[in-house]
Formats: sequence, structure tokens, C-alpha cells
Amino acid sequence: RGTMTVGELAKALHKDASEVIKKLLFLGVMATINQELDLDAIQLLASDYGVEVELKIPVEEDKFEQFEEKDEEEDLLERPPVVTIMGHVDHGKTTLLDAIRKTNVTEGEAGGITQHIGAYQAETNGKKITFLDTPGHEAFTSMRARGAQVTDITIIVVAADDGVMPQTIEAIAHAKAAKVPIIVAVNKIDKPEANPDRIKQELTEYELVPEEWGGDTIFCNISAKQRMGLDNLLDMILLVAEVQEFKANPNKRARGTVIEAELDKGKGPVARVLIQHGTLKVGDSFVAGVCFGRVRAMVNDKGKRLKEAGPSTPVEITGLTEVPQAGDPFLAFEDERKARAIAEKRAVTLRQSEMGANARVTLDELYKQI
Ligand code: GTP
Ligand code: MG
Repeated sequence: RGTMTVGELAKALHKDASEVIKKLLFLGVMATINQELDLDAIQLLASDYGVEVELKIPVEEDKFEQFEEKDEEEDLLERPPVVTIMGHVDHGKTTLLDAIRKTNVTEGEAGGITQHIGAYQAETNGKKITFLDTPGHEAFTSMRARGAQVTDITIIVVAADDGVMPQTIEAIAHAKAAKVPIIVAVNKIDKPEANPDRIKQELTEYELVPEEWGGDTIFCNISAKQRMGLDNLLDMILLVAEVQEFKANPNKRARGTVIEAELDKGKGPVARVLIQHGTLKVGDSFVAGVCFGRVRAMVNDKGKRLKEAGPSTPVEITGLTEVPQAGDPFLAFEDERKARAIAEKRAVTLRQSEMGANARVTLDELYKQI
């Protein structure tokens, strides 16, 4: 079955359904009592009431970490932040990503072909920032529900000539549910009718209050099209990263998440993976979801061949036996036999589980959590 209805959630929280519906409205979700809620809405509401809801997926997914080598505090080193750009249709997400990408194209790559690997790295002041190509909100939710928290910072793009729209509110809800810091990029300020202050005003209703008004949300005025304010935006990302101290241990077997995967006519199964912990090396055996393999070749977002890739690096790898799914966990193993055995075991568990790879929670499970 699916998730919970508004009525069921209200009951689980010992609240009036009408009160829950009112709260949902505040979050930008129009809902009736019998409506099924998505995971983010449930989590947000619950946290609003001071109840922690943990998403438990009855696949072996969450047990993947048991195979990972544990870290000591001193093993953890700074790593680049992983940033996702979200926002309403036509507010300029793609233009912004392209602008950052172009601004950061170095001499050597100019005119070269930039690989589409679902993610890319920009560099500013000698520091790297990893951008994930805007996953649909759907993908964001399902990845997170499967335990794959891939984003460190969310940039919410709002067009200054349009204002806060339904998908803006949804994006805020997603970022808040994932407890990811938000930077607001007020875009299209080059337009004569742009009114950045109105955006700030509108967003205060969603607890995004700019620093100059006593809040702690970073707002950046930009024009993605005219490439205005981009350096400042990148600086702000690095500032947030510095405060949050994103760290990982580069000196162990790699763990990460599959961002995209497909069957390539020439190369066979290809997976684009975000390395999150450790370092992946050519020749490493690995499990990706229920697939296994051995890294045959690895290229970065610039199409450059790599021998190894550390934390926060997006890479495209070949050497898989099958095509994994977006959101699948990825883990390198010291020997191929073990990788194969674990992949096979996971495949069996997955088949046994009716829920499969669908990021859905059973009502029972939620009740247990609450
Ligand atoms: P979806 O992917 O459809 O959700 O849209 P998007 O958010 O990726 O918007 P996109 O980048 O495609 O931009 C939509 C339109 O706005 C395009 O025509 C852009 O040229 C225009 N646009 C984006 N940024 C700016 C800007 O800073 N100024 C102006 N004037 N136009 C912009
Ligand atoms: Mg777009």
C-alpha cells in the first residue's frame, strides 16, 4: 500500500484532522482528509509537532553501511559541498546551472565536450563545489526515502518577476524535510519588472527570513542570463559549506550513490555515481543496488579519465554486469567474490520484498516510528 492519508496521520499524531489540513495548507499542500501524503509532507508535519519520523524501507538498503569501514574523527577531511538547485518551472534553474558551468570552463576544456554525468564540479577560489543536475522533486524524495541523502545545500531559485509559486513552496518543504541548508537565489533581477524585495517578503511566510531582516537565510540577487551575481552565489555556497564543515574520510573503500545509469550501446551498462565516502579506484570491485561489477574505466564530468576519485566527486563508470537504478547505494569491496555474493543476496531480498525499490513506507512501519 501507499503512504498515509491525512486522516491517518492526524490520528497517529493525536491531532485534529482539520488542524493537520490547515498546517498542510501553510506548507502549500492542498489536501483533503482522505488524501495520501508524500513522505516529505509527513515528515515535515511530524517535525512541526516535535515528532521525529524515520523513514524505514524494508529492503536491505539501510544495512549497506554495515559493510563500510568505520571512521575515526581524525580520518575525516574537508570535502566539497554537494549542491542541488530547485525551484518553480521557468524560474531559471537550467540557465543558472549552465551559467555556472560556462563561467567555470577552464582554458583546456573550452570547446571540448562536457560529459553529461548528472552532476558536475565548479571551482571557485581554489575550492570545489559539486552540483547535481536538478533532479525532479520526485527523484529527490525517492532518493532520500531510500536513505540516499546526496545533497548538502539546496539553492532555491525564485524569479523576481514572478514570485513564490507552488513548486517554490514544494522545494522549500523538501529541503526542510531533508534538513538541508537553503540559499535563496532571486533570479532575473535584470528584468525591469523584477522586485527582489517582494520575493523576500513572500518568503518570510515560509520562515526564510533574510539576514538584514533579522533572519538567517542567505539571499542572493542574480541574473542567470546576464551572469550577474554568480561569484557572490558561489562564495555564499562556500561560506555555508565552511560553517557546516562537510567532511569525509578519503582513505577507505568508496561508498556513494548512483545518480543515473543506462545501457550504452558501445560501453555496456554505465553508471554515474556520486562518491560520498572513501576513494574509488579503477579495478575496484563494487556493488550498486543489486548489481555488481569491477571499475573498468572512470571519467569525470569533463570527460577526463581518472584513476581514482575521492569524496564529492561525480564519476561515470563502466564495468557493471547490469544497469543499476538512480538512487541505488554504491559500495566498493576488496574482493570481487564478496561483491558478487552481496549483490546476489540483495537481489533476492529485493525480489522477496513486494515493495521493491519503490520508496514507499508502510503505514505499520510509520506507526511504529511514531
Ligand atoms: P524548467 O526546467 O522548465 O523548470 O525551467 P528552468 O527553471 O530550468 O528555467 P530555464 O532556465 O529554462 O529558464 C526559463 C526562461 O527564463 C528561459 O527563457 C530563460 O532564458 C529565462 N531566464 C532564465 N534566467 C533569466 C534571467 O536571469 N533573466 C532573464 N531575463 N531571463 C532569464
Ligand atoms: Mg530546466
